[in-house]
Amino acid sequence: MTLSDRAVAVRPVELADAPAFQALGAEAFGVPATPPPAPTAESWPPTGGRPWGAFDGDALAARLLVRGFTSWFHGATLPTAGFAGVTVAAEARGGGLVRALFDAALGEARERGEVISTLYPSAAGIYQGLGYGIVGGFDTVHVPLAALARVAAPTDGTRVRRAEAADLPAVRAAYDAWAAGQNGPLTRAEPPFAMDEALLSDHTGVTLAVDAADRVVGFASWDRGSGYDRTGRLEVEDLVALTPDAARTLWRALGSFGMVVGAVALSTSGLDPARLVLPDHAATLAAREAYMLRVLDVPGALGAARVAPLTARVPFAVVGRGDAVGPGDRLRGAWTLEVADGAVHVTRDGDAPASPADADRPTFTPAGLAASYAGAQSTANLRLAGQLTGPAHDDLVWDAVWGGRQVHVRDYF
Ligand SMILES: CC(C)(COP(=O)(O)OP(=O)(O)OC[C@H]1O[C@@H](n2cnc3c(N)ncnc32)[C@H](O)[C@@H]1OP(=O)(O)O)[C@@H](O)C(=O)NCCC(=O)NCCS
Repeated sequence: MTLSDRAVAVRPVELADAPAFQALGAEAFGVPATPPPAPTAESWPPTGGRPWGAFDGDALAARLLVRGFTSWFHGATLPTAGFAGVTVAAEARGGGLVRALFDAALGEARERGEVISTLYPSAAGIYQGLGYGIVGGFDTVHVPLAALARVAAPTDGTRVRRAEAADLPAVRAAYDAWAAGQNGPLTRAEPPFAMDEALLSDHTGVTLAVDAADRVVGFASWDRGSGYDRTGRLEVEDLVALTPDAARTLWRALGSFGMVVGAVALSTSGLDPARLVLPDHAATLAAREAYMLRVLDVPGALGAARVAPLTARVPFAVVGRGDAVGPGDRLRGAWTLEVADGAVHVTRDGDAPASPADADRPTFTPAGLAASYAGAQSTANLRLAGQLTGPAHDDLVWDAVWGGRQVHVRDYF
């Protein structure tokens, strides 16, 4: 008998199945050097996490973990379903279990009021079929310390000092000030990325940039690593700078390790403004993890945005791969976007055209809507990629509404 002949039940993973959940994850993503502690009633489910499983009889055949996050998009904080650890047992692959898990988990996310879902794919193709589009990437860049010796000194009195527990509110405020101007960053209010005392204990150091009035205007959290023969890298998880002199001051402090470390490995994304002060843009991309977004609630996500104070009315539609996943999915459909006084309202006009070719209005695929809403792609480029079809007369208005912010992410899950 094959898996497809049998009934597969998708449900939340209870404590009794938690060891199987962990074992299946280890099988796919690598067995951890130190085995995780056995789950207990206190530790399961993980705080803020919703583990889902597809069961073939009693056996766990596929799993994923949803984390409830909040992320910044267009000046608003959006309830976000972050998906991680998607795994199908080797013998059950090719049987549609990914879809079955997403049907259940996305349905529940919508019920909870989460208006978008995001994930880091190992292969983007899997998730495009579920309505996700690539909107950005989590990057690691290498900056040779020799280049940091040439960063100009600050001129406005900004200096560095080591962060202490009492500085955490100011560090959080600096992060929030940065994050609120981007599309994509998590608010870091939820585990495992909450900015609490662990920020200090988990790193070798957190260095602050403080201005002449002693205000925190940036910070860098860094890990020294081992050895001192200049082959090592200083790993910098965050380098957040609210002023150019804050960026210069932090880079110069990192550069002062030049006798004992060869390069900084910085977690970053996109055209990070903190890197603009580097001489000759001295940074090479070492790794990139794509970040994908799916809109779960069109009026909820788009309608939360704070946008330019223009007046606009644009009918549009959403049709294509992954436009109906799980119960309660209303992504597929005809919609009208109205913008006035910096606020956005989206209302449903009815059913979508049977196919994009029949559309009398601009028609996005789910992946195209995600990329456009995030400000990751222009309408012109979406048309080149086949993710936007239909009349083009409102394209520049649409771009003016959604194009003002860049996508940045700093937390990999
Ligand atoms: C990735 C994985 C979860 C896919 O499971 P699966 O049972 O093989 O997937 P399915 O056969 O149900 O395929 C689902 C869809 O993804 C597509 N797909 C599967 N693997 C793909 C790949 N490597 N690249 C592009 N598309 C892929 C399938 O074509 C299918 O598309 P369709 O629905 O449009 O036909 C499974 O191979 C696995 O556990 N791999 C190891 C862990 C891993 O990589 N997890 C992903 C982390 S983000």
